[in-house]
Amino acid sequence: MATTEIPVKPPIALVIGSGLTGPVIAMLLQKKGYTPIVFEKYTENADIGTTIALMPNGTKVLGVADPEMMKEVYERSRLISAIYELNATGDVLGGNDDMVNYHAKFGGHAFGWQRTNFRFTLVERLAKRGIEFREGWALEKVVESETGVTAYFNEGRTAVGDFVVGCDGANSVVRRTIIEDIRGAKNPHAMYSGTTHWAGFSPIPEGWADPSSFRHIFAKGSHVVCYPFTNFSRPGAPTEFSWGVTLRVPEPSKKNWRTYAPDESARLIAEQLLPTIANADFPPHIIRILRETTRLIKFGSYDLEEELKPAEWHSDRLVLMGDSAHPSGVSLGQGVNMSLGDCYGLYELLPDLTTGADLAAQLTRLNTTLPAIFQKYAEKRQPITVALVKGARAQSLVRTALDWEARDESLRTRWETGEAKRRMEEINSEPFPGAVPPESA
Ligand SMILES: Cc1cc2nc3c(=O)[nH]c(=O)nc-3n(C[C@H](O)[C@H](O)[C@H](O)COP(=O)(O)OP(=O)(O)OC[C@H]3O[C@@H](n4cnc5c(N)ncnc54)[C@H](O)[C@@H]3O)c2cc1C
Ligand SMILES: *[C@@H]1O[C@H](CO)[C@@H](O)[C@H](O)[C@H]1NC(C)=O
Ligand SMILES: *[C@@H]1O[C@H](CO)[C@@H](O)[C@H](O)[C@H]1NC(C)=O
Ligand SMILES: *[C@@H]1O[C@H](CO)[C@@H](O)[C@H](O)[C@H]1NC(C)=O
Ligand SMILES: *[C@@H]1O[C@H](CO)[C@@H](O)[C@H](O)[C@H]1NC(C)=O
Ligand SMILES: *[C@@H]1O[C@H](CO)[C@@H](O)[C@H](O)[C@H]1NC(C)=O
Repeated sequence: MATTEIPVKPPIALVIGSGLTGPVIAMLLQKKGYTPIVFEKYTENADIGTTIALMPNGTKVLGVADPEMMKEVYERSRLISAIYELNATGDVLGGNDDMVNYHAKFGGHAFGWQRTNFRFTLVERLAKRGIEFREGWALEKVVESETGVTAYFNEGRTAVGDFVVGCDGANSVVRRTIIEDIRGAKNPHAMYSGTTHWAGFSPIPEGWADPSSFRHIFAKGSHVVCYPFTNFSRPGAPTEFSWGVTLRVPEPSKKNWRTYAPDESARLIAEQLLPTIANADFPPHIIRILRETTRLIKFGSYDLEEELKPAEWHSDRLVLMGDSAHPSGVSLGQGVNMSLGDCYGLYELLPDLTTGADLAAQLTRLNTTLPAIFQKYAEKRQPITVALVKGARAQSLVRTALDWEARDESLRTRWETGEAKRRMEEINSEPFPGAVPPESA
């Protein structure tokens, strides 16, 4: 069995998974003087998934993790300036163009980012910042002791470190280790949450006024969200929209869930999606966007049959974040939203080892304080994520409501009373009010 040489600079954080959570927490850990090593089971950046809608409460965290990266990203992105909610006839239920002011007000811009490109950009930054990244390493189990952790990977490889950060997604091996091996409890299953999603990319139609907005079209029993997105591999103005349709489907039919080639996409849209939403009364330009799809993805929303309690988010030296702690329906962009909140939550609580204080003493202290730090982090993040997972579930039901008249009325009222705007401002003042976190202000 080959034991891998690991640089002696403690503490070493073994970060498992390089979805979006892993690279971000790795950069944040490095900022505080830790040595992260990121492990990823796959060796290629497969072009799957659609886009991620980012708002200031997420982009601010990315700005803390890597300000230089975000500066470049903002310069190259099609920033979103507005959000509108419309009814099936295309009449505005509410919205505003306040997002142009979001950077000044909340310290981050809003934009849509192709997930593959987002992940690739993060992974590239790891190399630029000298963070070790090991691809093709699939975690099999972790053993923790009083002095550290040993992680076992495929092909008999091992790695030792001081603690493990589990960013290994919905079917997390780190979660299984904490719950089954360490706590001797039952690892909860993921459960279908009642909605299926069709998502895709389509050309922005000619004459589409103000393409730089998030648009939600609430129709009869269905909903479409669309917005322009950024793909850095394709320079120039974005010519495509990302869209997503939510459908209430009682039973999941996994066999159809995948990414489709362009010719197949158009056929499935015409033969399956359009007839299914025929009664929704979507306006003609939305139907046209769907019809002209160049790439289609179908998937279902899942979350855990039973949420984890804060104590299940960690052991003494293992801690979960992102989808490993709280898998959720992907359609609402909550996944990334929650991950970035988790990343900031742990970052905030970990002691800063770059201050010049006696490092050896700090490290010895960390041996006894780490479990309490993990618990505090979990106690803070667990209620927020439980609410968001429930919220995501509830929101998909609102989006597919058959009682659409009452729904549209209540959406309209939320904007009219200022509640919708107030709520968005509240969200975007998270996890800290301005562009920089309070302690570094
Ligand atoms: C392929 C894919 C496409 C997605 N597309 C979208 C999308 O279009 N829109 C959207 O809103 N959300 C999407 N999501 C979900 C969204 O990315 C997540 O909700 C969010 O990024 C939080 O992710 P995470 O990093 O915690 O987990 P994930 O994104 O699931 O990343 C987990 C990572 O860990 C790796 N991993 C898993 N097990 C092991 C192991 N044993 N050893 C080593 N590595 C391991 C996985 O390969 C993966 O890279 C997608 C997720 C995936 C995996
Ligand atoms: C973050 O969460 C809020 C509130 O639940 C949601 O409205 C918003 O779209 C999310 N932001 C991102 C970046 O997905
Ligand atoms: C959308 O709103 C307009 C204006 O209030 C209204 O006339 C129209 O009937 C609404 N459409 C639907 C489908 O409710
Ligand atoms: C992003 O750009 C690359 C390079 O042009 C291309 O291969 C890929 O298909 C693009 N993705 C989308 C969705 O446009
Ligand atoms: C975004 O806002 C919601 C609602 O306030 C919050 O629960 C979530 O944690 C925030 N996300 C981030 C990344 O801070
Ligand atoms: C625990 O203490 C030892 C000895 O000071 C140190 O080498 C190690 O890095 C510490 N572990 C953690 C998690 O800080």
